[in-house]
Amino acid sequence: MPSNPTTPVTTLELRTMKREGRKIVALTAYDALFARLVDSAGADVVLVGDSVNTVLCGQPTTLSATLEQMVYHGRIVRAGVERALLVLDMPFLSYQVSVEDAKRNAGRAMQVTGAAAVKLEGGAWLVPTVRALVEIGIPVMAHLGFTPQSVHALGGARVQGRDPEAADRLVTDAQALEAAGAFALVLELVPAPVAGRVTEALTIPTIGIGSGGACDGQVLVLHDMLGLNESFKARFLKRYANLAEDVRGAVRAFGDDVRSGRYPDPEHSFKA
Ligand code: KIV
Repeated sequence: MPSNPTTPVTTLELRTMKREGRKIVALTAYDALFARLVDSAGADVVLVGDSVNTVLCGQPTTLSATLEQMVYHGRIVRAGVERALLVLDMPFLSYQVSVEDAKRNAGRAMQVTGAAAVKLEGGAWLVPTVRALVEIGIPVMAHLGFTPQSVHALGGARVQGRDPEAADRLVTDAQALEAAGAFALVLELVPAPVAGRVTEALTIPTIGIGSGGACDGQVLVLHDMLGLNESFKARFLKRYANLAEDVRGAVRAFGDDVRSGRYPDPEHSFKA
C-alpha cells in the first residue's frame, strides 16, 4: 500500500517519491467504476489514456480520439478518484498545431474534467508547448519512446532508442522536457538500460511501460493487466487477472440458468 493512503497525490509528491526511492504506481482508467477500484487499491496516478480509443472503442489506433471524447472520460473518471493524481491524455492534433491551440485545449480539458495534469507525446520539438502550459499553471507529464500518436511515422509499435544515437537523443529530449517544466515522463518501449540512463539523468520521475525496472514507476493499461483486453499481447505485459474468461464464464452460467429455468428462483423473486 502507499505510504500515505489518504493524502491526495500531487505532482510534487511524485518528485519526492523519486528522491526517496519509493516507486510510483500508475494505471489507466476510463470510467468512474474502474477509477474508484484503482484509486481505492492505492494507485498513485490514474491516467485517462487516449488508449480508451483502442481498448474501449475498438479503433485501430489512438489517432481518432477527440478532445470531446477525452473530456467525457476525464469527467467520469474524476468522479471515481479521491487520492490519486488524475492525468488526462491530450489527443492527437489537440496540441501539435500551435502553442495557442495547446493552451486553449489543455486549459479547457482541465477546467471541465478536474484533472490535475495533462500528458503530451513528443520530444524536443514539444519544449515551447510544455513551457507555455507550465507558465499558465498546467502541469505536464511528457511521453517519450514509442509514442502511439506517431505509430505510422514510427512504423508500428516498436522499441525505440536501440541504437546509440537514438538512445542519446532520448536522454537529451528528456532533459529538455524536464528543463521546460514537465513534472514526470512516461517512457514507453525503451530498452531497460536506456530507460535507466534517462531515469538517472533526470530529477523528475520516469514512469515506464515496457521499459524495464529502473524507471521510478510503472504504468499499465488497466484492461490489459486485468486480462479483459485479450487482443493485446506484448512481452512486457503481466496479466494480474483473467477477467475476460471470468466474464465469459458468468455469461455462460447466466445463459444456462435462464434456458433451464433455474433463474430466477424463488429467492430472487418477489412475493405478492
Ligand atoms: O494512452 C495510454 O493509455 C497511455 C499509457 C499506455 C501510458 O499513454
